[in-house]
Amino acid sequence: MPGAALLSPCPYPLRLLDEHEDLSLLRSQLKVHYRSLGPRSRRLRFLGEPSTEALDRLADRADPELVLELVEEGAVRAVLEAYATSPGHVEVAISVEDGYQGRGLGRALFEEGLVLLASRGFRTADLVCLRENTALLHLVSRAGARLRMEGGEVHISIELGQVLDHVRGAEPGPAAQ
Ligand SMILES: CC(C)(COP(=O)(O)OP(=O)(O)OC[C@H]1O[C@@H](n2cnc3c(N)ncnc32)[C@H](O)[C@@H]1OP(=O)(O)O)[C@@H](O)C(=O)NCCC(=O)NCCS
Repeated sequence: MPGAALLSPCPYPLRLLDEHEDLSLLRSQLKVHYRSLGPRSRRLRFLGEPSTEALDRLADRADPELVLELVEEGAVRAVLEAYATSPGHVEVAISVEDGYQGRGLGRALFEEGLVLLASRGFRTADLVCLRENTALLHLVSRAGARLRMEGGEVHISIELGQVLDHVRGAEPGPAAQ
């Protein structure tokens, strides 16, 4: 299996795939994961209704800074992707296999991913989700996220310094509007 095992307090095994990995291997891992998402999850993750062929093409072109995978019951069940957008800034997307949603995997992976990105020197993490994506909005609310509504979408920005403060036990700053 590709990727380095991470030592972390996360209750699930995690694997990190980054620029040192074979990109074609990383893309094939993404392809398998994208295919495990049902129609609703695809819409929430990709803000549209991509066909399986379109998802395959997205995976084939993906060039993430890093991918963090969460393993449960012997297989990858959740994936966090991070794409560097400009120095210090990263765009993040997360998805959990349909049958494993609502069991805490997303929260565990998201928090580990933010800490990892902060430790790599990124200052902000941005996400975009649909307004109806209450699970994702719950996830980001604890990270002091700033939210901006735009049509049916929510643009989310997280200050990663606050995330590290939180993990170290300091009071996180208030979430801006
Ligand atoms: C969004 C997603 C990553 C969350 O992962 P998850 O494993 O299902 O969520 P968790 O079980 O860790 O729960 C995270 C939080 O959301 C809440 N939550 C979970 N499912 C929910 C639902 N259907 N409705 C409302 N809240 C929900 C949980 O109570 C929890 O909040 P808390 O920790 O403050 O109590 C997952 O549902 C998913 O992959 N969805 C489809 C793809 C997607 O939406 N990606 C995001 C766009 S980038």
